[in-house]
Amino acid sequence: MKLRSRSWFEGVSLYSFVHRSWLKSEGFPHDLFEGKPVIGICNSWSELTNCNAHLRQVAEAVKRGVWEAGGFPLEFPTISLAETLLKPTAMLYRNLMAMDVEEMISGNPLDGVVLLCGCDKTTPAQLMGAASADLPAIMVPGGPMLSGRWKDQKIGSGTDVFRFWDLCRTGRMTEEEYVEIESCMSRSSGHCMVMGTASTMTSLAEVLGMTLPSCANIPAADSRSMTIAQESGRRAVDLVKEDLRPSQILTKDAFQNAIRACMSMGGSTNAVIHLCAIAGRLGIQLSLDEFDRISRETPLLVNVKPSGEYLMEDLFYAGGIPALMNEIRTSLHTDAITVTGRSIGENIAAAEIHNLDVIRPTSNPLNPEGGIAVLKGNLAPAGAVLKQTAATPELMVHSGPAVVFENREDLLSRIDSPDLDVTAESVLVLRNAGPKGAPGMPEWGQLPIPKKLLEQGVEDMVRLSDARMSGTSYGTVVLHVAPESAEGGPLAIVRDGDIVELNVPERRLQLQVSDEEIAVRLAEWKPPEPHYRSGYGKLFLDHVSQAPLGCDFDFLEGKRSEDDLPTRYARMGHS
Ligand code: FES
Repeated sequence: MKLRSRSWFEGVSLYSFVHRSWLKSEGFPHDLFEGKPVIGICNSWSELTNCNAHLRQVAEAVKRGVWEAGGFPLEFPTISLAETLLKPTAMLYRNLMAMDVEEMISGNPLDGVVLLCGCDKTTPAQLMGAASADLPAIMVPGGPMLSGRWKDQKIGSGTDVFRFWDLCRTGRMTEEEYVEIESCMSRSSGHCMVMGTASTMTSLAEVLGMTLPSCANIPAADSRSMTIAQESGRRAVDLVKEDLRPSQILTKDAFQNAIRACMSMGGSTNAVIHLCAIAGRLGIQLSLDEFDRISRETPLLVNVKPSGEYLMEDLFYAGGIPALMNEIRTSLHTDAITVTGRSIGENIAAAEIHNLDVIRPTSNPLNPEGGIAVLKGNLAPAGAVLKQTAATPELMVHSGPAVVFENREDLLSRIDSPDLDVTAESVLVLRNAGPKGAPGMPEWGQLPIPKKLLEQGVEDMVRLSDARMSGTSYGTVVLHVAPESAEGGPLAIVRDGDIVELNVPERRLQLQVSDEEIAVRLAEWKPPEPHYRSGYGKLFLDHVSQAPLGCDFDFLEGKRSEDDLPTRYARMGHS
């Protein structure tokens, strides 16, 4: 097989001179250009993305492996997305990063690529880009932070912040204690160490077969994360020689395995959107009904916050993803091929659970069903999701009057007002928080409990929006209502006092208003002014899809033509 990079480097010509000579300025000897597989190390390192800030070190370990196996490593940056710092939301830029990843892989003289990820959106963005570029690729997640510790408590990223904030804003925790917890929670490199979106997506990358076994959850501070990075670098060279590509690994079977694993580990609701988007890049459609069916069939086994008690470090010591998958292997497509060149069934055959409370056996699950329920009804004709394992069982069937917030600003200005007409039975409704309405579908879905109810001891209530929610969050929170309100979904016409019915066992989300009245209100409805009229924001608004389709851009969906990569090269006139 002729290496793709030979098109840049072989022979004696004007262009091969240019390609080699300018790279030689980095001190590379001539023999590197004589047929070694060129392995790009696609690095989402950034000091603005704290979760990925250690990935330069990981890249060095990957390079060792590439050199060892006879390859030529070249590290390159892409944009990076920090869940905490980037406004209005990192999700606004996931597709932009995916475009960056795809174009840098396909436009450069690479034969294969190692993807270094961590923080929430960086994993799906890299998988989307790599799936579209479809060169041999292997992923190395940077790993979760060490478990948080404050006094005698183990504390989890995000999940415990929300709890502590409620204690602080109601005077049950001092501001000094609250600030002290900041450094006790985030005490090493790595991403959030609960089963938030980062841990969910890196774990699912492993389930999908895009990482070496056990790679996803090694704590970032554990030396074994460097070991597996080096092994991944070695393996990247072999992937090129075997011409094993993402399109052969990311199959429908692999995605069904990922959905099942997600349900059994109490994975983030964000995974629904990201898996649909990654699959969409390969022309594979995943329906919300498929997620719900698999969830109903799959018990929750992983006892990690926010659905459980432990943290990601505990999950790794308990056997990690291979042990979990081996426990549910009878319901997996075990012949799905992975980056090892072997099937997922072969990869996990010897995996054992070392702590039966962290990874429960199927005979003793935490919950008989999986983490996510898909709801439908006249309020969400295209669907909505709820993380049922992180919700309050008593609220799974609930009807109550709506308290409607027009947008985030309205919410923040009124939620703690003593005059807010709200009781524990109310249903808090936020609109204009979806892909176009917010914009970018931020993680605003876990609406705060009104202060006056918190002071009465209310800890949870039904909340509803077209937003997403942090994977670290919890509560009876209905998310991703589709179509979103800014697109004229029925959420747009809910009024204060309308009765909203939530019935999770029957998967129903219903507005107790007649069809005729809904039609009248929708006819009177006017769409909000768009947030952007130019720049990237306009591109986003013009092309983003709704949540059930993954919020990808319409022009990025589907498999690229088989001939597209060489065509792109030829268009440059460098042949
Ligand atoms: Fe990066 Fe949570 S902020 S994973």
